[in-house]
Amino acid sequence: MSKIEKLLEESSKIELGGGQARIDKQHEKGKLTARERISLLLDEGSFIEVDKYVKHRSTNFGTSSLEAPADGVVTGYGTVDGRLVFVYAQDFTVVGGSLGEMHAAKIVKMQEMALKMGAPIIGMNDSGGARIQEGVDALSGYGKIFYNNTISSGVIPQISVIMGPCAGGAVYSPALTDFVLMVDKTSNMFVTGPQVIKSVTGEDVTQEELGGAETHNKISGVAHFMDKTEEECIERIKLLLSYLPSNNLEEAPVYESQDDINRVEEELNEIIPDNPNKPYDVKEVINSLADKGSFFEVQSSYAQNIITGFIRLNGKSIGVIANQPNVLAGCLDINASDKAGRFIRTCDAFNIPLLNLVDVPGFLPGTNQEFGGIIRHGAKMLYAYSEATVPKVTLILRKAYGGSYLAMCSKDLGADQVYAWPNAEIAVMGPGGAANIVFKNEISESDDPAATRLEKIEEYKDTVANPYIAAQRGFIDDVIVPSITRPRIISAFDMLETKRESRPSKKHGNAPL
Ligand code: HXC
Repeated sequence: MSKIEKLLEESSKIELGGGQARIDKQHEKGKLTARERISLLLDEGSFIEVDKYVKHRSTNFGTSSLEAPADGVVTGYGTVDGRLVFVYAQDFTVVGGSLGEMHAAKIVKMQEMALKMGAPIIGMNDSGGARIQEGVDALSGYGKIFYNNTISSGVIPQISVIMGPCAGGAVYSPALTDFVLMVDKTSNMFVTGPQVIKSVTGEDVTQEELGGAETHNKISGVAHFMDKTEEECIERIKLLLSYLPSNNLEEAPVYESQDDINRVEEELNEIIPDNPNKPYDVKEVINSLADKGSFFEVQSSYAQNIITGFIRLNGKSIGVIANQPNVLAGCLDINASDKAGRFIRTCDAFNIPLLNLVDVPGFLPGTNQEFGGIIRHGAKMLYAYSEATVPKVTLILRKAYGGSYLAMCSKDLGADQVYAWPNAEIAVMGPGGAANIVFKNEISESDDPAATRLEKIEEYKDTVANPYIAAQRGFIDDVIVPSITRPRIISAFDMLETKRESRPSKKHGNAPL
């Protein structure tokens, strides 16, 4: 056999991973193999594998003879939509995709190359965790990956895809990255599994309930996206990448827009109900402002009282943060603050301008919120907005009360342009609460306190709860007719395109956590 034939034979053997029987088992579970995942993700024919011939060096517990093709992880680079990305995909058919010294070294090499080249890295996780036979070498491997995740944070987009088990300390690599995607029913993440929980706390919980895609998308907020199949999940990664630059020194790609930048939307003049307590769906506002079909929601199932996502305006990527009056009246709470604070920082790190749509009656009252630290969590939004130097445009749709008016990026937190619709109400608190305090004596001394209270509420609204007082002081740059909002915000972002803003130099800020 010639050396070339030997090379080709060895290469095909490695490409078969743990062998056909294990591949079939993987398929039976509704899962693809590591190589199938990579080839679906990358542009056809663009994948170049690195470190195919790496072998583990473990001799513990009879592992000297353990065959582990590619050491259980396929690594390399290629393109998505013509743009360079680095990838790694753990191969569950090889020792359960478990991570040992050399497996980790392969991932670390990809992380270092991605950082040097300024290209996104996508990690596909499907692993039984630390390779138990390798002990502290495996732990050290995780440590190096976490370290590189942190060093790369804010420099290149890091995307984690969970397509099988991801347990124990292994969960912390995804947690350190920018986006976590999960596949429903076939992926799970937990620090300690159901059996340990049962033995320590006595709780009965299934693996799916504890750490399935639904749990992390709806309850814990650990994940950002959930898909029914791996194929759909991989399509979502590609879409996500289309909104992101390759690194922090670049801008996100601009796509030619088919949508009219001067589009006037008469329906926006009617979208806010006359009754200030009546909800509506702010996603309708987002969709009508965005280039048609471009709204890509992030964390759509978590803290639904605030909406976060990307849109395109005239083909350019913009991050949107919007209060959702349909859920908890759009109040800010702990989870909403965490979700928005993180999203604002993600956008700022990657030069994606921010559009803030405000209809917020305040922070959610309650002992749960106060004991849970709403002060500390709410501060994350104030911090994130103040810290962000990307163009920031705020539009007040209706309510903007108290601290939440500031927390949604008022002028004082550095909004470059603030617009309000004519029915906006900017006040220290809602008219009801304000009237109770300001007109306390008049109400209590009146013959008909209820009627007087209603009268006083109207008086307070007429005097304070409108956009003009804020506009008179320059806190609002313009009060606009809702229908012309799209052209106006496109013009604002065009004007802001050359914005440069620097901050005092420091090691790093001390963001509330
Ligand atoms: C070595 C492992 C392994 C591991 C799986 N395998 N996990 N080998 N180290 N961590 C091997 C299995 O022995 C088996 O080998 C093959 O991979 C496939 O696993 P199965 O058990 O047959 O698959 P399945 O029934 O689907 O179960 C998957 C599983 C289970 C739930 C992940 O394998 C499992 O519980 N594994 C151990 C998980 C674990 O405790 N990991 C350590 C976590 S602590 P054969 O040859 O029989 O096919 C941790 C600390 C990290 O990770 C700390 C970082 C800071």
